[in-house]
Amino acid sequence: MGRVTPRVLVALDYSSLQDGMRLVHELGDLCQFYKVGSELFVSAGPDAVRSLRGLGKEVFLDLKLHDIPNTVFRAASACATLGASLVTVHACGGAAMVRAAVEGAGPSCAVLAVTVLTSLEGEQLAEVWSRPIDDIGGEVLRLARLARSAGAAGVVCAGSDVQAIRGALGEGFAVLVPGIRFADAARDDQRRVVTPRAAARAGVDFMVVGRIVTSAPDPRQAMQRVLAEVEEASC
Ligand code: C5P
Repeated sequence: MGRVTPRVLVALDYSSLQDGMRLVHELGDLCQFYKVGSELFVSAGPDAVRSLRGLGKEVFLDLKLHDIPNTVFRAASACATLGASLVTVHACGGAAMVRAAVEGAGPSCAVLAVTVLTSLEGEQLAEVWSRPIDDIGGEVLRLARLARSAGAAGVVCAGSDVQAIRGALGEGFAVLVPGIRFADAARDDQRRVVTPRAAARAGVDFMVVGRIVTSAPDPRQAMQRVLAEVEEASC
């Protein structure tokens, strides 16, 4: 049986909307779904989302909301009204906060939870949470379960966590993976990277590609390579 082909999103990590939209026009039909993160959103504001929606593109607003439930409810509702179809929150904001995000986002916008930032290691987590953390994978699963029980549609995680999350939470819970690199390319500042092929084989629902496309000498060619790997792995 063939797998479901994951959706490939391109991260518009720019401070200028003009630069971001130049890439969107260049990629044309090769990409229908874009990630707007805090850099572009703070720089260009809601116009970033409106411009993409105006071209018929889908938008993942990666704002990683983390605040009191009422504030997160209102922010998630504003994201959905703007036209985002995916938004992120921090699972460690608590179940009530995640639930508020889901209620605020409503049926048109799915809420994904960030569990443990991949930039954090055991020692830093222990410092933040004031207890020894020997098993980060266990924390990722614990927070993923909390997010699911609060109604989140899925989680953002490293490629290396996909199997454990799938095993523990099943197919109905969406998984989005960033940190995508070609096998022969530089890792930049990413530590836990995965190739487009491996991410597709692992059964992710969404993968976010950034610099391998946006900083490529020929972004169209790089995107075609990503899509070819994904297609091949999904057959
Ligand atoms: O490194 P790259 O340019 O591929 O990053 C693409 C996007 O994925 C960026 O917007 C980054 O914030 C996000 N991300 C990541 N690594 C994580 C989590 C998120 O690169 N572990």
